Amino acid sequence: KRLILIGPPGSGKGTQAPIIKDEHCLCHLATGDMLRAAVAAKTHLGIKAKEAMDKGELVSDDLVVGIIDEAIKKPSCQTGFILDGFPRTVVQAQKLDEMLQEQGVKINKVLNFAIDDTILEERITGRWIHLSSGRSYHTKFAPSKIPGADDVTGEPLIQRKDDTAAVLKSRLEAFHKQTEPVIDYYAKRGIVANLHAEKRPKEVTAEVEKVLSS
Ligand code: AP5
Ligand code: ZN
Repeated sequence: KRLILIGPPGSGKGTQAPIIKDEHCLCHLATGDMLRAAVAAKTHLGIKAKEAMDKGELVSDDLVVGIIDEAIKKPSCQTGFILDGFPRTVVQAQKLDEMLQEQGVKINKVLNFAIDDTILEERITGRWIHLSSGRSYHTKFAPSKIPGADDVTGEPLIQRKDDTAAVLKSRLEAFHKQTEPVIDYYAKRGIVANLHAEKRPKEVTAEVEKVLSS
């Protein structure tokens, strides 16, 4: 399967992706996680991406298209993948179509994490992440079993620099202006499934499974 997860910041893409990945043996490609790793490692890519990310704006199409182009060619992604946070502009979606055409494959489903903007601030400001794996926790909705640390490795959790109420505003603006048109792009192909992303994590997982088994 080749899946795309689209939704505003805090809608649950990064929470559901690892579950879908394990269930369906897919590789999880999250451009946000890859960019944050590049920023932390101070690579050439990270240095270029940091300013836009800190402001809650989108990084340039060329940079992210380059990352995905490289990633989807990996042997581990040949049997299928989950794109989390990509494509986020119509230009990125068109470039993705070109890449997939070269490989003779196509996207099966686009999961649209539909949710009201008003719910997102509490989710975003309460989030703690494990940087190297991208795993998300939440002080209220998904606390770690080891206080202040990752459940799997025990390593410390951090808060994302862009997870403030002020930066969230810009991220939401970018979502509505630049990313919502991507949903229409795929809706024209009839491959978009709308999820009730305001529900509890387990209920969202059940909706995803229903869509993927149909
Ligand atoms: P990215 O990392 O992709 O951030 P985002 O899209 O803003 O999405 P989030 O990671 O904030 O939300 P999520 O849906 O994964 O939520 P999560 O599951 O963690 O991108 C960051 C930046 O990188 C961008 O701003 C941009 O600068 C750049 N970038 C990335 N990709 C790009 C691209 N393609 N083009 C250009 N620039 C790009 O959940 C959030 C919290 O809520 C967690 O604490 C979680 O525990 C909790 N939670 C999850 N589900 C539920 C639920 N059902 N009920 C209650 N709580 C829940
Ligand atoms: Zn995420």
